[in-house]
This record gives sequence, C-alpha cells and structure tokens, in this order.
Amino acid sequence: MYKVAVIPGDGTGPEVVEEGLKVLGAVSELEGLSCETVRYDFGGERYLRTGEVLPDGAVDELRTFDAIYLGAVGHPEVAPGILEKGLLLRLRFELEQYINLRPVRLYPGVDCPLKDKGPGDIDFVVVRENNEGLYTGSGGFTYKGTANEVAIQEMVNTRRGVERCLRYAFQYCRRRNRKKKLTLCAKTNVLTYAHDLWWRAFNEVGEEYPDITRDYAHVDATCMWMVKNPEWFDVIVTCNMFGDIITDLGAIIQGGMGIAAGANINPEGVSMFEPIGGSAPKYAGQGKINPLAAICAVSMMLENLGEHQAAERVEKAVMWVTANKLESLSAGRMGYSTQEVGDLVVEALEPLPDV
Ligand code: IPM
Ligand code: MN
Repeated sequence: MYKVAVIPGDGTGPEVVEEGLKVLGAVSELEGLSCETVRYDFGGERYLRTGEVLPDGAVDELRTFDAIYLGAVGHPEVAPGILEKGLLLRLRFELEQYINLRPVRLYPGVDCPLKDKGPGDIDFVVVRENNEGLYTGSGGFTYKGTANEVAIQEMVNTRRGVERCLRYAFQYCRRRNRKKKLTLCAKTNVLTYAHDLWWRAFNEVGEEYPDITRDYAHVDATCMWMVKNPEWFDVIVTCNMFGDIITDLGAIIQGGMGIAAGANINPEGVSMFEPIGGSAPKYAGQGKINPLAAICAVSMMLENLGEHQAAERVEKAVMWVTANKLESLSAGRMGYSTQEVGDLVVEALEPLPDV
C-alpha cells in the first residue's frame, strides 16, 4: 500500500493531476497495487484566502508519505516568488530532494522542432542539482531603491551537495546502461571557484566509476549541441540554475511542456513528481491542456517506488497515444480534450501495448 500526497496546485494543475490519478488508479488495478491518496489545497487560492502558503506542520506531514504528486504552482494574482519559494522550493529544500531528474525523450509521432531528428536521436536525461546553487536565496540588497543600489545573489556550492549529486548521476548513468556517458554541464571558464569545485569533484568521484565515460561541455555549448546533435547525450549533470534553463530547451525538443515531466528526488526520503510546465492560467478549466506530462510524472513516481513494470506500462501507453492518436501535443490542438487524452492512456494500458 502506497500513500501518495496530492497537491493539485494552481491553474491547470488540478485538471492534469486528475488525469494522472485516473491513470494511477487504472494501472494500480492492472498491476495489483494499492495507492491511497490524500489531497492538499496548497497553492495560490489558499494563499490569497489565508495569507499563508504552507501551514505549520505541513512539511512534516508530507514526510510521512511514500511520494508527493504535484500539479503546478503559479497564480496571476500572487507576486512572483511567493508560491515558488514558499511551496515548490521549500519542499525541494526541506525534504532534501537534492536531485531533479528530467528525462528528455522524443516519443513516436511527436513533432520535433529540430530538422531531421527523430525519436532515436533525442533520448537523454538531465540530472539537475536541486538544493543549492543560485536557488538558496542567499544574498541581499544594500541601498535598495537608490542609485547606489547593490543586489547580490550568491551561488552556493558545497562539496557535500555537489558530490552527492554527482554520485547520483554516475550511478543513474550506470543503471540506465546506454552510452554510459556522463556529461558535466558547467561554466568552468568563468565560474572559476564554483565550477572549479564541480570539475574537481566530477573527476574525483568519476574515478569510482571507471565504466562511465566522463564528458564536459560549457553550458552555452550544451545549448548548441542539444539543438545540433542531441544524440550525443546520454546523461547530463549540472547545477540548479543551468539545469532549470537547459531543461526548458530539453522540453521543447521533446515536443513541449505538454509532455515534459520531472522528479524531485530524495533517494533516502520522500520524492515529489510533477509536470514541469507550470500552471498555464490562460488554459485553466477549459479541458484544453495536455495531461501527458502529468501522466509521465506518474510513471516516474511508480519507477521511483520500485514498480518498474507499472511505470513502463504507463510510459508505453503514453507512447502509444502519441504515436497513434494525438494531432499535436499543444494545448487546444490535441484533437481531444484533457479528459479524453487521460481516457486514451487508460485504454492503452491494457494489454501492455507494443510500440
Ligand atoms: C522549474 C521551475 C521552477 C524552478 C520555478 C517555478 C521556481 O521553473 O521547476 O523548473 O526554477 O526550478
Ligand atoms: Mn524551470
């Protein structure tokens, strides 16, 4: 019996989460699993009503679950940063979800904006450090609002934090067992302290993984290669900020935000699974948004819980739907409503389809 905390969140979050849970329910039945879900109303609406993002004790309560399933955070009436810092980043930090795992995989039948690239060319995974870097909120203002204003935002890199991320990436690359190549994406030519630490740690930890080929690319070049030769990549490991940026690029080469999912992982604790696309408020409540990213997040959740067959069943069903049904992955252009896409995935779960 798995206990899953569900945070539908803002905008289109609730709609896509509904479809994800529909698929979770259906695959659980087929695989003989049992999942109990508990819903939490955290997000913009609650914040506007109560003035608080997370009530006291919420984080500790979430710790008691096997997984957290998150829709989206971001509300047009709430100032930028409040929900992001108060909910998403707070959970990532306090639950020590120090890995953000983001697969970039082009599924069959999906339009790719890259010329002459197909599903065989775009299949890699980004391991983004998720607890440090430019995201810690360290820094501040002096002389704020004056002509002499100084704003400092510090990039925090600890040897411990970097090393555990690198070690996860090497192990993940080994488990994935494809090209067995791990690319460090950094900026060692400019960030001569912060990324010097990454570079040294990468090579030192890498000695423990002689079966994994070490590769390096600056972040700007990484962006170029992701467009020009995405087939070169197997696993990319990178800092929090660069990981944020390159995974939006990754999402668009795999077909867009409608399909991109991510996992915030604490390998020793509770992990959180989400579509990475945001709350898309302009589509909220219309049944136009693509739920596949949220459904792929369910697949990642099952994989992380050790339910490999269930995870694969969901991913294959998604692939069958992209290959055979959807006209487009974009909101409003799928040829089906949000709910109908969820139903199509459920139908494709049984029997285990061949793609
Ligand atoms: C993401 C998002 C978040 C991030 C925002 C909403 C804080 O862009 O999950 O990639 O920057 O990590
Ligand atoms: Mn992002």
